[in-house]
Amino acid sequence: MNNYKPEQLEQWDKQYVWHPFTQMRQWQKEKPLIVEKGEGSYLYDLEGNRYLDGVSSLWVTVHGHRKEEINRAITEQMNKLAHSTLLGLANVPATLLAHKLVEITPEGLNKVFYSESGSTSVEIGLKIAYQYWQQKGKEEYKNKRKFVSLVNAYHGDTIGSVSVGGIDLFHKIFAALLFETVHAPSPYCYRCPLHLKKETCLMDCINEMESLLAHQHHEIAGVVIEPLVQGAAGMLVAPEGYLAKVKELCNRYNVLLIADEVAVGFGRTGKMFACTHENVRPDIMCLAKGITGGYLPLAATMTTDEIYNAFLGELDECKTFYHGHTYTGNPLASAAALANIELFEKDNLITALQDKVSLFANGLKKFRELHYVGDVRHKGLMAGIEIVENKETKELFPVKYNIPHRIVLEARKNGLILRPLDNVMVLMPILSMSIAELQQVLDITYAAIKKVTEDEALC
Ligand SMILES: Cc1ncc(COP(=O)(O)O)c(C=O)c1O
Repeated sequence: MNNYKPEQLEQWDKQYVWHPFTQMRQWQKEKPLIVEKGEGSYLYDLEGNRYLDGVSSLWVTVHGHRKEEINRAITEQMNKLAHSTLLGLANVPATLLAHKLVEITPEGLNKVFYSESGSTSVEIGLKIAYQYWQQKGKEEYKNKRKFVSLVNAYHGDTIGSVSVGGIDLFHKIFAALLFETVHAPSPYCYRCPLHLKKETCLMDCINEMESLLAHQHHEIAGVVIEPLVQGAAGMLVAPEGYLAKVKELCNRYNVLLIADEVAVGFGRTGKMFACTHENVRPDIMCLAKGITGGYLPLAATMTTDEIYNAFLGELDECKTFYHGHTYTGNPLASAAALANIELFEKDNLITALQDKVSLFANGLKKFRELHYVGDVRHKGLMAGIEIVENKETKELFPVKYNIPHRIVLEARKNGLILRPLDNVMVLMPILSMSIAELQQVLDITYAAIKKVTEDEALC
């Protein structure tokens, strides 16, 4: 397919492609890195240069690029059926995958509603929660129409998922389009919203969630949360026990818990699902990203029987969940997801991860010594390294210095792909990376941060 010269592709990219979350004026000034192929832990550009994929191609790649088993599963499926709709029909891979997902997720999540992205999986979770209370039977439940979400939350880019988002940089501009959401404080310990010290933290931030649930539970449909780690906010790791407390409050005040495992699911935190760290079974669980091992767009919103049953009725009762996307339950994506999950089992990936998680945690310690690193947060194989201009005051570098991007370019020169979140350098290595590759990810990142923040002139 590609008989074009790199210069031609670069020109057409700049001329025609509008890149996501990208200031296109800035983009126009630089030579784009055009990825042509992948192999294991590496991506290759058009000139054949290789780069370690330090962000798992935006947090999705699990067993590496071009994994034989997943390639084969997709090819075999393609030779049978590429697509058929789930509206009025079933297909083999989507059925098998639903069975598998119910088997591997926390007990009691027995129903699977498919879509294609993390955003839609959350959007669907919100709509299901809302409709559930409308159909639950008691008149008073019909007032349960709002959601509680956390400050700094990120649940995707569709209007519903933005409504439960809490990152001003991304979401503020859309405020007039959003439905009303009740915000609880974020467990952002480095910049504690209650100005407390992490060392003596008693999770006071949860008291605020408790208080707002106590006062408003009659109008709250659900609490939406990224379990353990608020990813897009810069890998904000919640204190141990926080999630279990939220679940306890949801039970006490009769609101649903919607766990958005889009970023943290499929092994990322060191267990298959983040909720299992604290033995939490949410009422609704959103899955995407790693579900196909980084191959094809697929998402699943899982619910309990209790929720599903509220949608059962006679045709004229109109209790149906009127929602569905054209490619919902796509057979190719489902086949990829099945192969991905089988590989977790075959390679014993979760067990194999534990040594890597230890190495990663140890390797990250020394980042704290860097002059301009304010905080280092990690869980499993996900980490955020927060760059600050002043460690004492936690002040950030002026945006014009463009520090995170300069660190990205420096790392790239040394063969590593990174993608920061605002002033936080993110590390999301591929779960199948070898110990040596992981070490390289750490070393290159360390050197890049040091060089840009300590050695180069800041101007
Ligand atoms: C926790 C969480 N939820 C939802 C999303 C949105 O997923 P997608 O980009 O596939 O729509 C993301 C994406 O980063 C995420 O981190």
